[in-house]
Amino acid sequence: MPERIARVPIRVKVNGKDYSLEVEPRLLLVDLLREELDLTGTHVGCDTTYCGACTVLLNGASVKSCTVFAVQADQGEVLTVEGLAENDKLHPIQQAFADHHGLQCGFCTPGLLLSTLQLLAKNPHPSEQEIRKGLAGNTCRCTGYQNILKSVQAAAQAGRT
Ligand code: FES
Ligand code: FES
Repeated sequence: MPERIARVPIRVKVNGKDYSLEVEPRLLLVDLLREELDLTGTHVGCDTTYCGACTVLLNGASVKSCTVFAVQADQGEVLTVEGLAENDKLHPIQQAFADHHGLQCGFCTPGLLLSTLQLLAKNPHPSEQEIRKGLAGNTCRCTGYQNILKSVQAAAQAGRT
């Protein structure tokens, strides 16, 4: 018989909503979001901390949620792509990606949006090199990097007005 794994109580705020859950200690944050909370906007592209499709903000810092245990988010706040738009109005970063064709298949986009949010929070006026470096952990298999760069530059510009 498979060994039963004791569940651990956690409290976490996700996109402004409080959750109290019991999870296995081995549960990954990405699986908590996708499987338990039905927030499937956070994608799994590799499971090996490479692609960045699973990027979310945990207590304001971008993390690859395939590499964080759900229990590590206990008492914390998580922001996923579902938490960006307000009342059906796209977040300015989402709007910039839409306006500048910063996505093709869109698989990498949720992670890129969250990484961009953190990048611009830390550095509202990044140079091209700083954008490239800041988003180096996010891979786009469609290789749409030029338009992603333009989108981030437009989002930064929008933030100035
Ligand atoms: S799924 Fe987490 S980095 Fe690729
Ligand atoms: S838009 Fe397809 S992987 Fe980036």
